[in-house]
Amino acid sequence: MKFIVILNNKGGVGKTTSAVNLAAWFAKLNRRCLLVDLDPSASASIHLGFDKSEQNHGTLCDYLIEENRSLADFIYPAHEHNLFILPSEPALSEFYDEMLQDEEAEFFLERADFPDKYDIVLFDSPPNMGNLALNALAIADYVLVPVQTQYLALSGLDLTIRTIEKAQRHLNPSLKVLGYFGTHYDRRTKVAKEVYVQIVKQLKSKVFKTIISVNSKLIEAYGARQPILKYAPSARGSKEYRALAEEILKKIRL
Ligand SMILES: Nc1ncnc2c1ncn2[C@@H]1O[C@H](COP(=O)(O)OP(=O)(O)O)[C@@H](O)[C@H]1O
Ligand SMILES: [Mg+2]
Repeated sequence: MKFIVILNNKGGVGKTTSAVNLAAWFAKLNRRCLLVDLDPSASASIHLGFDKSEQNHGTLCDYLIEENRSLADFIYPAHEHNLFILPSEPALSEFYDEMLQDEEAEFFLERADFPDKYDIVLFDSPPNMGNLALNALAIADYVLVPVQTQYLALSGLDLTIRTIEKAQRHLNPSLKVLGYFGTHYDRRTKVAKEVYVQIVKQLKSKVFKTIISVNSKLIEAYGARQPILKYAPSARGSKEYRALAEEILKKIRL
């Protein structure tokens, strides 16, 4: 089982879109994949149809509240064969803040709590790098970083890189950077090309070959509560996330 955290301290860079669509492609490519939504805004959960305001399913928050329940009780099959989700909900934020007052409760995720039947456990993380994200970094094998191909993306990236280095030093020395990939790439603009060249110059071989282009079908797929491979299988966004999923599987030898 490989644990991968999608991380970037900025909001809106494509973490959730990448988490959902990579998870769906991993599943389609015959890897059992569990998507864990660590973001109280619950966008990844909602993207896959798990909206706590509309239906009454369990969430990561319920797992924290209800002692003596196992994590498996809060995991649900989602859309694709091989795809599973541990959903989030807004109440997670408040409850976790309360929990933080009790020092021992700060780290609540253990690898051993996850049922040993997934090939990949993929975490979508909240922006602003709160302690929720640190929980995942503490137990993960890899961190995967989406980088928006726009000006200032690289200066903003420093904070993400520093967080990863801190996590490696203090929490999890075996945490590895799986890589960086460009998102929101608009090939009609010079800016996107220039920024991408800078990204490759700075991060070198850590940058995946696949770039995720701007594609409105990805936004529509969110509206339809479906992964892109189901909503618009032949869309550019679907093909690019497939290519990225394949690159990742090759890199982690799965
Ligand atoms: N490649 C893309 N092309 C067009 N829109 C995108 C793309 N990736 C993400 N989006 C849209 O951009 C917004 C932010 O993306 P999201 O994945 O939620 O970012 P984050 O999780 O980092 O905050 C969402 O409205 C999403 O639908
Ligand atoms: Mg998000």
